[in-house]
Amino acid sequence: MLLNDRRPGDEPGTLTKSIPTEKQHPRLMRDYFRRVAPHYDFVSRAFSYGMDRRWKEDAVARALLPDNALVLDLASGSGDFSQIILKRLPHGRSVAVDLVEEMLHIAREHGVKEIACADVTTLPFASDSFAAVLIGYGLRNFPDLEAAILEIKRVTRPGGRMLSLDFFLPKNRILRLIYIAYLYANGAFWGTLLDGRPRTFTYIAESLRGFLSIEELTSLLRRIGFAQVESRSYVFGGIGLHLATKQ
Ligand SMILES: C[S@@+](CC[C@H](N)C(=O)[O-])C[C@H]1O[C@@H](n2cnc3c(N)ncnc32)[C@H](O)[C@@H]1O
Repeated sequence: MLLNDRRPGDEPGTLTKSIPTEKQHPRLMRDYFRRVAPHYDFVSRAFSYGMDRRWKEDAVARALLPDNALVLDLASGSGDFSQIILKRLPHGRSVAVDLVEEMLHIAREHGVKEIACADVTTLPFASDSFAAVLIGYGLRNFPDLEAAILEIKRVTRPGGRMLSLDFFLPKNRILRLIYIAYLYANGAFWGTLLDGRPRTFTYIAESLRGFLSIEELTSLLRRIGFAQVESRSYVFGGIGLHLATKQ
């Protein structure tokens, strides 16, 4: 178990800083999410006890998007954010982009018509295209986070919004330990049950290795040039929402 797998200098209740294998090559990341795709919707609801959809609805409401917004749902998976946008904005459009075709097929089955298979660092869109870029549980998976955020900024219109919802580690050490144990135990349970491999869903906990804190991501967004960067957290800091505006 990775909790015992600390290096000298790591605080108790932290994960090791080494990078999960999937993040070391886009092919491995693709293989991983291909495997996850058939179970993805079920597991995200099970992990969050159904709260995930509510966090996403709340996030979209906070972004205050115009009725006719053109939105990019980046690392869309099965297209949750796109579905919320299409329901909420009568004249809006949402383009779902993901590295994995299997995820996009599911998004299409959910009624998301505009889809594209692409890597976050080379988005096939002109600069200043989107009124908003929404990223649900995506940033954590990107090997070069800064390059990804620069690309997100490039395709966002001036005055447009970037919104990210993701997992983080709670600041409080006891809560952090409980949260990591929860993510591992729950992940191993569903991974074994659905895919015969605990590892399939313990990746969530492992992908938090070396990922930023809520405050560090806020600073990075500011440093990259986003303005009005706001954040809020859910479940004692285990989930974080960031909203930022391209100047
Ligand atoms: C945890 S899922 C999130 C799905 C969805 N956004 C949600 O909120 O439930 C992460 C998604 O990121 C995609 N992904 C991983 N690396 C990517 C990359 N470099 N470029 C684009 N998508 C990527 C995966 O294929 C996967 O569908």
